[in-house]
Amino acid sequence: MSKFFETVQNIYPIFDSILSVREKEKLLNQRSVVIWMVGLSGSGKSTLARSLENALHQNGLLTQLLDGDNLRTGVNNNLGFSVADRVENIRRAAEVSKLFANCGIVTICSLISPLEENRSLARQIIGDEKYFEVYISCPVEICEQRDVKGLYAKARRGEIKDFTGIDSPFEEPKRADLVINTDQHDLNYCHQQLLGAIMPLVTF
Ligand code: ADX
Repeated sequence: MSKFFETVQNIYPIFDSILSVREKEKLLNQRSVVIWMVGLSGSGKSTLARSLENALHQNGLLTQLLDGDNLRTGVNNNLGFSVADRVENIRRAAEVSKLFANCGIVTICSLISPLEENRSLARQIIGDEKYFEVYISCPVEICEQRDVKGLYAKARRGEIKDFTGIDSPFEEPKRADLVINTDQHDLNYCHQQLLGAIMPLVTF
């Protein structure tokens, strides 16, 4: 018997008495979506996620921002950067995002999500209709030049192992709903591009 089956076989989730997401969206006068932001460390994910959340908030929308670095200090604090740990990191983040989205909240999730299988998993957990993938695209050489956190330098010195883009793979997203090139445009342009795509999705 699989471990999964053993752990879920005596569990009886209740769905019929739970208020629907539509009722919650109506209450909040907004539509929920999970904006899944994918990209290398230093690509601008967190910066754009924060400016997006601020702008949505100023437009009267209820939001929740989930950032990889922050989640890794709490719900994911027992996980590292092996392929398996990244899968678990993303699975938990997607499950948490789904709870927020089911509450009608516009949820912004900013995680490297390096592999296509990571994004497929998030899409599968959240559901196609609520999952919106944004690829924050920037060549690894530029991310390394920026090296805001000094992590690329550490990875080059061998002080960090399995660093994405250095000795751990990053697969170019193939199914992104939106691509933002932070190496080609300034922050304000990228922000407007992102906000312009998201506003119609979250307003009636
Ligand atoms: S993910 O690959 O599992 O999606 P996540 O977004 O949660 O990664 O965490 C990435 C952040 O962890 C980076 O922004 C960086 O600050 C930090 N970090 C520490 N070690 C690594 C590493 N080996 N690879 C990538 N990021 C790392």
